[in-house]
Amino acid sequence: MVHDYIKKEFSKQLDQISDENLRNKVVDVCVEALQIGNDGSGWLDMNFPFTLLIPDLEVSYADHVRIVTDLAIQSADLLSKQGIPIKRDLLIASAILHDVGKPLEYATNSKGNIGKSDTGNRLRHPVTGAGLAMKHSLPYEVVQNIYQHSWEGERGPKRTPEGEILHRCDFLHFGPLKLSREQK
Ligand SMILES: [Fe+2]
Repeated sequence: MVHDYIKKEFSKQLDQISDENLRNKVVDVCVEALQIGNDGSGWLDMNFPFTLLIPDLEVSYADHVRIVTDLAIQSADLLSKQGIPIKRDLLIASAILHDVGKPLEYATNSKGNIGKSDTGNRLRHPVTGAGLAMKHSLPYEVVQNIYQHSWEGERGPKRTPEGEILHRCDFLHFGPLKLSREQK
């Protein structure tokens, strides 16, 4: 059931992963994140806000993942035409999974409000997301791209080309959205 839900929510993006085995693993990781997130209570859907840093946000986790993945695909297509080699399947898998630690980072409190989970107070979503991807035997490049998509990627090993695109597309959605809300 949860598998079908994920496949429906991300159908347009998942369909662009040509490797069926990789596509199925991406779905499996999303399913487990929803099942074990919310401090173990699980989430019924992906309609919770994708960030806690923008107040009263109606843009959901699912919306954000779709927008970032679409931005990444469009960027990769443009860059490929300029002769930059892009591993498209790995980019799309990484983009769909970049925030897969967020269902673990957030939880609903007794008043029904969404905030940081106990897990989230210990581990940021890049770490839990990378851990889940490793558990499901995703390629190490995908694990790396998930771990490095935010500021964790500013230190240590260089990002992959796909990880660099993903990092910028993630903030391409977050940055203008946050600024537009601050100007209201
Ligand atoms: Fe993100």
